[in-house]
Amino acid sequence: MSEGSPLPAHVPADRVRDFNVWAPPGFERDVHGAWKALQDGAPDVVWTPRNGGHWVALRASAIKECFEDYTRFSSRCILVPKEAGESFQWKPVTLDPPEHAPYRIHLTAAFAPKAFRPYEPRIRDIARQLIESFRERGRCDFQSEFGEKMPIMIFMEIMGLPLEDAWTLKGWSDRMTRRVDDDAGDVTQAFDSYLRPHVRARRDGSGSDAITALVNSRVGGERITEDDGVILVTSALQAGLDTVANFLGLAFTHLARFPELRRQLVADPALIPAAVDEFLRRYSVITIGRKIVEDTQLGGVELKAGEMIVLPSMLVGLDERANPDPDTIRLGRKGASEAAFGGGAHRCPGERLARRELAIAVEEWLAAIPEFALEPDVTLTYQTGVVPVATSIPLCWDVATTRPAA
Ligand code: HEM
Repeated sequence: MSEGSPLPAHVPADRVRDFNVWAPPGFERDVHGAWKALQDGAPDVVWTPRNGGHWVALRASAIKECFEDYTRFSSRCILVPKEAGESFQWKPVTLDPPEHAPYRIHLTAAFAPKAFRPYEPRIRDIARQLIESFRERGRCDFQSEFGEKMPIMIFMEIMGLPLEDAWTLKGWSDRMTRRVDDDAGDVTQAFDSYLRPHVRARRDGSGSDAITALVNSRVGGERITEDDGVILVTSALQAGLDTVANFLGLAFTHLARFPELRRQLVADPALIPAAVDEFLRRYSVITIGRKIVEDTQLGGVELKAGEMIVLPSMLVGLDERANPDPDTIRLGRKGASEAAFGGGAHRCPGERLARRELAIAVEEWLAAIPEFALEPDVTLTYQTGVVPVATSIPLCWDVATTRPAA
């Protein structure tokens, strides 16, 4: 073994692959290609000595089994190295059922279609306003001028927080999702100091924002404590600020590279939700872990209680055993297997909101800027972590082919 922790006696040598899940080889140019290269030809479950030594599930069936079975694969620790993961304890993200359910129920309600539907016209307005800010320039940096701004502006409105604080919150969120070795305690403390006055002010409030709904939730008949209110809101912000933003970058990079797909969607916008489904399958973003709570078998190998296993959600959609020709975006693909939003008890409660934001972004963009491409000679560069991101996505278009965002 070249580097990292010693190999435990029960780990067969042919299961060992020496790679860092937070920086798979080649990720700077192509995050999904880097993960796919690790999947190709490897066993379903492998061991890496990096980040304290842990398992990695590389195939759709093994990844889904871990997401769905909390009795063997616990959320009590979801990051590697395990020491870093154990310092990160947020409700309901790091609770297992049954403790998880009473908290989770409120997140599900706060981000259900019934709750976010009134914001839909505003989501569209925000998309149009951003597009108009650069359309006549004939170019933009997609990530900083649209991909990051749109979901954050929407999310701050839904939460009922001042827009001017968005970039501070995004900075803390980035520290958690890209620098997993960072001190989770610092970030939790920063969110706590910022959110506590907002939470306190909304206890007993009658506002329609998501914070008011979350901090007045009842668990077992009792209103949740102020501390739990702060941590529920922190979890929602952490999970909702970064994910849609980074995913939008991947989807629009694909649209820039594949003009035929783009033209098909311009000609028939009713196909856009199907395209979003395929983007989510092809470009899933989250890499998350689970702690093994009992000695068990997975993918033909023995896992021991106390060890960690990492689940790269992108490898579900990219697994050719589950999805034939997985690299291709195929509208109307039947029975696609994906785990973009995870699975089991922790499946993302923001899924419906995220899908709606993604569809509206594509609809509004293609209506205003139907023809666009990556700037010539540009090489995109990615950062990895729990959620990977392209740091900059320079797009260009002929202004004559555009029309004002309505
Ligand atoms: C494309 C966008 C998104 C993706 C790909 C995504 C993905 C995921 C995944 C994979 C999980 C499961 C994590 C695990 O099993 O440990 C998750 C959980 C979660 N997501 Fe999302 N998410 C997205 C958007 C959002 C949004 C907009 C919100 C806003 C409310 C949100 C809130 C949450 C929360 C609170 C959890 C924790 C749920 C729990 O532990 O029960 N997500 N998300």
